[in-house]
Amino acid sequence: MNKTERALIARTAKYVQKKLAGEGSGHDWWHIQRVWENTQVIGKAEKADLFVAELAALLHDIADWKFHGGDLSAGPKAAREWLEKHSVDETVVSQVCQIIERASFKGAKVKNQPLTLEGQVVQDADRLDAIGAIGIARAFAYGGSKGREIYNPKIRPRLHTSFSQYKKSRGPSVNHFYEKLLLLKNRMNTKKGKLLAKKRHQVMEYFLKNFHAECGSRLS
Ligand code: ADP
Ligand code: NI
Repeated sequence: MNKTERALIARTAKYVQKKLAGEGSGHDWWHIQRVWENTQVIGKAEKADLFVAELAALLHDIADWKFHGGDLSAGPKAAREWLEKHSVDETVVSQVCQIIERASFKGAKVKNQPLTLEGQVVQDADRLDAIGAIGIARAFAYGGSKGREIYNPKIRPRLHTSFSQYKKSRGPSVNHFYEKLLLLKNRMNTKKGKLLAKKRHQVMEYFLKNFHAECGSRLS
């Protein structure tokens, strides 16, 4: 990365930090900071273009569809505005926007659109923060922010077959483990991502075993 690119990364980090500081659903600045760090670790191992990958990591949640009425174009649009304002080349802008649009989870049985190497890196980096101990914390924080129950044995998990079904889902937060989080280990793209996901997956399995023992019923 050259000096100008490094400066834009620093400026983007500051902008995102200001925008997402204090957010209460698990999409706060510290989530972005962790995804940014994961992106650097995985991106270096994969020899990805770090300028593109780091920009996408930093901007990936500034206007997430989950908080914009399910609109998948809100995120890429907000990222484009920021990048164009700073005269970033269209080739970079379009790569970053495509990553933001394609990388997020759209349902257990929904086929992923193809990702560039940089997209695969950022998706793995984001997914790592959705699993393990931090993933457990984020799932319940998100559920709480949306007014969802923690656990309700009468509502079974569903493997959604379309994005519109997935985004309408209002089930209890613990169902999210069966609908998404436990599936991520086998869907990691990169060698490094796969390796890092292993331990985090075990942490969730241990948590769920104890969760169901305490709640007196099993979902799996
Ligand atoms: P993605 O783009 O893949 O959705 P995000 O960085 O936006 O990834 O974060 C998604 C996180 O938000 C999930 O991993 C989870 O912690 C939380 N989340 C999303 N949907 C739900 C849900 N239905 N129930 C509980 N948590 C959820
Ligand atoms: Ni994210």
